[in-house]
Amino acid sequence: MARSMGQREPGPRPGVFLLLPPLFLLLASAVEDAAQVQPLVTLEQLLWVSGKQIGAIDTFRIPLIAATPRGTLLAFAEARKMSASDEGAKFIASRRSVDGGSTWSPTAFIVDDGEASDGLNLGAVVSDEDTGVVFLLFSLCAHRAGCPVSSTMLIWSKDDGLSWSNPRNLSLEIGTETFAPGPGSGIQKRHEPQRGRLIVCGHGTLDRDGVFCLLSDDHGASWRYGAALRGLPFGQPKRDGDFSPDECQPYELPDGSVVINARNQNNYHCRCRIVLRSYDACDTLRPRDVTFDPELVDPVVAAGAVATRSGLVFFSNPAHPEQRVNLTLRWSLSNGTSWGKETVQLWPGPSGYSSLATLEATDSWGERAPQLYVLYEKGRSRYTEAISLVKVSVYGTL
Ligand SMILES: *[C@@H]1O[C@H](CO)[C@@H](O)[C@H](O)[C@H]1NC(C)=O
Ligand SMILES: *[C@@H]1O[C@H](CO)[C@@H](O)[C@H](O)[C@H]1NC(C)=O
Ligand SMILES: *[C@@H]1O[C@H](CO)[C@@H](O)[C@H](O)[C@H]1NC(C)=O
Repeated sequence: MARSMGQREPGPRPGVFLLLPPLFLLLASAVEDAAQVQPLVTLEQLLWVSGKQIGAIDTFRIPLIAATPRGTLLAFAEARKMSASDEGAKFIASRRSVDGGSTWSPTAFIVDDGEASDGLNLGAVVSDEDTGVVFLLFSLCAHRAGCPVSSTMLIWSKDDGLSWSNPRNLSLEIGTETFAPGPGSGIQKRHEPQRGRLIVCGHGTLDRDGVFCLLSDDHGASWRYGAALRGLPFGQPKRDGDFSPDECQPYELPDGSVVINARNQNNYHCRCRIVLRSYDACDTLRPRDVTFDPELVDPVVAAGAVATRSGLVFFSNPAHPEQRVNLTLRWSLSNGTSWGKETVQLWPGPSGYSSLATLEATDSWGERAPQLYVLYEKGRSRYTEAISLVKVSVYGTL
């Protein structure tokens, strides 16, 4: 820019000149994305293997992946001590990568629920871009199996996931109704309305299910319930075909609205994903903003969804109407209103929950080379056998 300014003779009026470059850059980056998006898998490695091979852990499940504001990747999973059951005692297992996913720290067990009959369940991770603090929410006694009340718990890290605070009991503020965060990521609003707000969405018990979001407008110091969209009939046992949005993943679109992509627990309307949208930063979720995405065929599972800053949306799930197989990556250049015909099949066999994160990076020529990370449940005969990390070059460059 400095050079072209020097060449201009006579120069344009300063006001005009100052206004133009950012606009050009914005337009250029939106167009460039559409033309350059050619996702290519460049690396895959197992971060955790079940079957008492790592720390005598029976089963690793419920993968979460996040990129911190400093560019560190953090992976989390439930380390189920004695069995594959959703209940029972667990650790939260964590690994870090500071080199874009090439190498990972050994597993750290950052939370231990002891010998709980209905211990911890993950969870959602969210970073605050302004403070650099990383938050991880999880639940205790979500199934009320041998314990009286559910608790929603919060831990945080101020050093990029190296060390973690003691758990804080958010139920003292928000109550003891079961809230199962995620599983996946929370978001921090990048655009108005409510720029900077932290949003973590989750679900309830099977009878009292629905999508519920926790909000923080003070960088994670205090949390309260915002939006709720309850299943029907609420508080009663569900039947096949009832409306019961369950495990969910929010992402923000460039217009500042929030999309929440949810598991369709009882296959209401379709064997596909429920898509909710909030235009007020998850203060509310209106029934009229509920849609179903027939392109996102789903076997009733927790799926991954993430939007990049330029508005590119990625989605991952086992793309099958009944079985948890065929882990598939899709992307949308139209704010998630449609999905490209092209997909990337990450694993044809048994595959379950998945979680997505993106990282801005530059290649060896200094060009933008955004990366996508998929952490998913993968196996040969059962999807609970391992948790695998896939690195995807968004522009297909190495
Ligand atoms: C969290 O707080 C709630 C509400 O006071 C309480 O009932 C519950 O036992 C607490 N949970 C833990 C793990 O301390
Ligand atoms: C996997 O999903 C993709 C995308 O929907 C589909 O084209 C393909 O046929 C599926 N493969 C299997 C084995 O189900
Ligand atoms: C996506 O949303 C943004 C913000 O509303 C809009 O400018 C853009 O045109 C949308 N893209 C498509 C392809 O609809």
